[in-house]
Amino acid sequence: EIEFPGHSDEVFAAYPELCCSGRAYTSGEFCVGNPLSLKFMDEVLTEVLELFPSKYIHIGGDECPKARWKECPLCQRRMKENGLKNEEELQSYFVRRIERFLASRNRRMVGWDEIRQGGLSETAIVLSRKREQGLRSALENGNDVIMTPYLNCYFDYYQGSRETEPLAFGGFLPLRTAYDLDPFEGLNAEQSRRILGVQCNLWTEFVATLDHAEYMLLPRLAAFAERAWTGGEGNYPDFLRRLESFSRLYDAQGYEYRDFRPEADSLRASLGS
Ligand code: ACM
Ligand code: ZN
Repeated sequence: EIEFPGHSDEVFAAYPELCCSGRAYTSGEFCVGNPLSLKFMDEVLTEVLELFPSKYIHIGGDECPKARWKECPLCQRRMKENGLKNEEELQSYFVRRIERFLASRNRRMVGWDEIRQGGLSETAIVLSRKREQGLRSALENGNDVIMTPYLNCYFDYYQGSRETEPLAFGGFLPLRTAYDLDPFEGLNAEQSRRILGVQCNLWTEFVATLDHAEYMLLPRLAAFAERAWTGGEGNYPDFLRRLESFSRLYDAQGYEYRDFRPEADSLRASLGS
């Protein structure tokens, strides 16, 4: 995942002229009105395509605030020249331009829910963390989708009490909730065929070591993988029982993981087996 047009402060630390204010660390989105931004984007993508031969290129596209664009003469001129009614359409103009660039080189663009804002071609792939804001409109528009509902798939969230767990981003996503993932929930057969796959995420603002990353991932990753492969209702008590033997693999590899045994023991006790 690379990030256009928002989440790009690191670019402006080196090239402040590419953001609307012309100054680093003011706001993290490109000045879409500046022709140099478009040139920069073409050059970065060209390098990315050389490095990654993959069919799919993930351009980010999430969480782009648009307040600066409202006040920027270059952005406003770009909107006027292209008949764009609002800043959502300006974002869409930028995203579509990236998609055309990638398509002309035989690649498919992937981006977060927000790439739907302001309109999107149906050949783009939407990475959807929000059922209501992203998934519905993507499916209505005919886009393929990768599912990553944040309630089940954000492994930067706490997996237990904040009193005892290492500092995390926020949220609460215990093993059980990871296991509750159902990629096809509420979708009909035709919509389900649009789901290309699933993704879980561990962003690492609060994760400084590989041991910590393993601790955040395991065993939630096992729950995620089982639900991704098998779908349907699942059976959490049975999963916990099998995790007992699976965790020997973690031990053999020396992986860090969150202790699931207290939960497994108390569940076993409550089920009386
Ligand atoms: C995201 O949570 N901004 C992808
Ligand atoms: Zn601008």
